[in-house]
Amino acid sequence: MKVIHTVSELRAELDSETNVGFVPTMGALHDGHLALIELAQREADVVVVSIFVNPTQFTDDQDFAKYPRTLAADIERLESLTKTPDILFAPSVDEVYPDGIGQPLAPRAGALGSVFEGVSRPGHFEGMLHVVSWFFQAVRPQVAVFGAKDAQQLFLVKRLVHREFSDQIRIVEAETVRSQSMLALSSRNSRLSPSGLAAAPVLFEAMVNAEELITEGIAPSIALESARKQIESQPLAKLDYLALVNKENFAPIADDFSGLAQMLVAAVVDGVRLIDNISFYIQEQE
Ligand code: PAF
Repeated sequence: MKVIHTVSELRAELDSETNVGFVPTMGALHDGHLALIELAQREADVVVVSIFVNPTQFTDDQDFAKYPRTLAADIERLESLTKTPDILFAPSVDEVYPDGIGQPLAPRAGALGSVFEGVSRPGHFEGMLHVVSWFFQAVRPQVAVFGAKDAQQLFLVKRLVHREFSDQIRIVEAETVRSQSMLALSSRNSRLSPSGLAAAPVLFEAMVNAEELITEGIAPSIALESARKQIESQPLAKLDYLALVNKENFAPIADDFSGLAQMLVAAVVDGVRLIDNISFYIQEQE
């Protein structure tokens, strides 16, 4: 695996490649990231993994400062894989933001930037879209792999590729990797205490219970209310939002909706903000 820090070195490596797979990350690699890399290796001839803790997508300076930066351990972990990625691209902040991090961010997230995750993290999606767009221009991948856990990010990245990259990058959605207790893997889980770890699976359990109710014909609004109660009955969990959207357009759905739906949840568990989601089909009701 080659470790590269600048765009010019990266281009020198990639200019003759025609089937490049890309996995963007912020490091602190866990098994979920490794699953993304394996998927990229199945889809492409050359795989580039990036590690960059992007300052503009953090709303809180403290959160940015506290974000785990474990480059040496991450490199070791990647080097120990049976099949290592071909390139680790770890640019500096100056490489990504030559005009400073105060420069205008583009493209914009629009209305979707201020709902769900955007409510508690204003500006987050602009920072994310800016950096993903920068990486797409630097890496010029044919395929890029993103985790399904960050549903709103994935939706916005697909829209970015459609609007700004003429659908020339295939976005592959990697299923969320879960622990035995079905907790979605996240770099943030390392901040949970043992009681937080025991409480956190309530998010997934509540969503699955709501899905079952909906499949039995219960109105989505009633099923969501029941899931909300289940989460709120867990003393360590403070629910931020629980919602059902149309997976095609990310718009909240009404009770008469039929089609592919996505249930989204965000909650602070034991002081750590966690998100998760599930996708399922809602049949037309007679
Ligand atoms: O999902 C992440 O880790 C980040 O948002 C990403 C896509 C690497 C952009 O910084």
